[in-house]
Amino acid sequence: MSENFKVELLLDAAVAAREKAYVPYSNYRVGAALLLEDGRVITGCNVENAAYPAGLCAERVAIFKAVSEGRMKFRALAVVTANGGSPCGMCRQVMREFAPDMPVFIADVSGNVRRTSVSELLPDSFGPEDLGYPQP
Ligand code: THU
Repeated sequence: MSENFKVELLLDAAVAAREKAYVPYSNYRVGAALLLEDGRVITGCNVENAAYPAGLCAERVAIFKAVSEGRMKFRALAVVTANGGSPCGMCRQVMREFAPDMPVFIADVSGNVRRTSVSELLPDSFGPEDLGYPQP
């Protein structure tokens, strides 16, 4: 895939993050890796909870980790699951808040990769501008 960064490295980081997933209930491991504007990579995994809704998806863990460290400019996101599952609606909305046009690489553990983008995953979206706020 022709990008101005190494997609493979981002996918490797997501694969490693996936190993950390805490998934006693679904056993569905998800790893995410977020490439920041400055080249740093922030990872996330899904973290479940006995009170099911208290758990959080890997993508949001990665994005919230970045934002909590003062980083809001994102270049790309990689997501790895066993079967190449697509990000959930809430994660798409959170991606859209910070990076409406960011490329998203969705991969399975066999190395099949699909390139999409936040705007493709969440077309005709609602965002900060709709409330009169600038893009963060
Ligand atoms: N999950 C994610 O981590 N990301 C998604 O976009 C879809 C779902 C997690 C949540 C839960 O821990 C498990 O996958 C099964 O839904």
